[in-house]
Amino acid sequence: MRETTVWRARLDRALTRFCSKPLDDLDSSVLAALRIGAAQLIILGTPPHAAVSATVDALPRRRAKGLVNAVLRRLANEGEPDLSGAPLHEVWSHPEALTERWVSRFGREKTGKLLEWNNSVPNIGGCFPGPDDNLEKGKYLDDYRIIERTGENPLDSITGNVYLQDEAAAITGRAAAELAAGGSVLEIAAAPGGKTHHLQAAAKYVVSVDSSFSRMHRWRENSARLRWRNSIPVVADGKMPSFRNGFDMVFIDAPCTNTGVYRRRCDARWKWSNEYLNNSVILQRELLLSTCKLVAPGGILIYSTCSLEEEENRLQVEMFENSRKNFQRISLSGPAELVMDGMICIFPFEHQVDGMFAAAFRRDH
Ligand SMILES: C[S@@+](CC[C@H](N)C(=O)[O-])C[C@H]1O[C@@H](n2cnc3c(N)ncnc32)[C@H](O)[C@@H]1O
Repeated sequence: MRETTVWRARLDRALTRFCSKPLDDLDSSVLAALRIGAAQLIILGTPPHAAVSATVDALPRRRAKGLVNAVLRRLANEGEPDLSGAPLHEVWSHPEALTERWVSRFGREKTGKLLEWNNSVPNIGGCFPGPDDNLEKGKYLDDYRIIERTGENPLDSITGNVYLQDEAAAITGRAAAELAAGGSVLEIAAAPGGKTHHLQAAAKYVVSVDSSFSRMHRWRENSARLRWRNSIPVVADGKMPSFRNGFDMVFIDAPCTNTGVYRRRCDARWKWSNEYLNNSVILQRELLLSTCKLVAPGGILIYSTCSLEEEENRLQVEMFENSRKNFQRISLSGPAELVMDGMICIFPFEHQVDGMFAAAFRRDH
């Protein structure tokens, strides 16, 4: 249930008053049931009787039933503690350290809007080969369309080769594809294929590498469904590329903290820590410095993330420019308001799509 993940901190704040021990010490199935019940009571406005009884009935053990019943009944009677005056991270259910980091960088008001955006339900859409004018248009791309949420699998109602993705991901994929036209591409961190979809339509061929077997399995399913041509999947560590020849383009869609896509990846916020950021930065640096060797002279390197953090974006660009003088930055194309200094810089609620960053470089020699 999306609400229990998105609103976890707010639900825990409400539940903790009625539990005699810390929530983390509870049996995991009891905690999950409490959060589901609390989400129904506080967020979804389910009638108390239905919320409590449905949650309790779903539990197998008698003791667990008793505890969950007692806590949820008290919550239903006494309600959620007042949120006015509560800190932003509690109001909008985000990690405290990340919220503080964003407040010091963006200010309180902008951070509040970002957290609110992250909790909103994302739309579903994609680039349509022959766009249907009955569907709502996207904000930036002519062929991007938004599909109404019906509760059914959206793929069931689509005919044609449509990859469902946020418009920001499509914008980045398109910008890379434009520079890849007719050439060979090595795609690093490729699964499940959101950018492959655009690259393979433009390139001579694409070698798509990802270290995750299960994610590459989804890449293969997407490839079969969407009839990708000229693309080959490889499961391998992108830090140790073992290709002999240079490619006309190396595209790195780097593993990152995902802070630009919390609306879609609502579980990702609970992974945030400074250590996680630092590890991501180290991995991105290694991927950049190792795979750039595989760009043929005159070829292009593109680095992208779905993070909002400077360490993963502009500072990585600076690091790369300082350490590889034979690469010069070139401009990526895209809607004017989303491109700054030739780099794609998309900020979630301001641009009304996911957060995304991309920069491109040409190798001189
Ligand atoms: C941002 S996601 C890629 C999204 C994908 N490009 C798309 O558009 O659908 C990052 C990917 O990096 C992969 N990854 C993480 N570490 C890696 C490594 N050392 N080498 C290659 N891929 C890696 C993850 O498995 C994950 O699929």
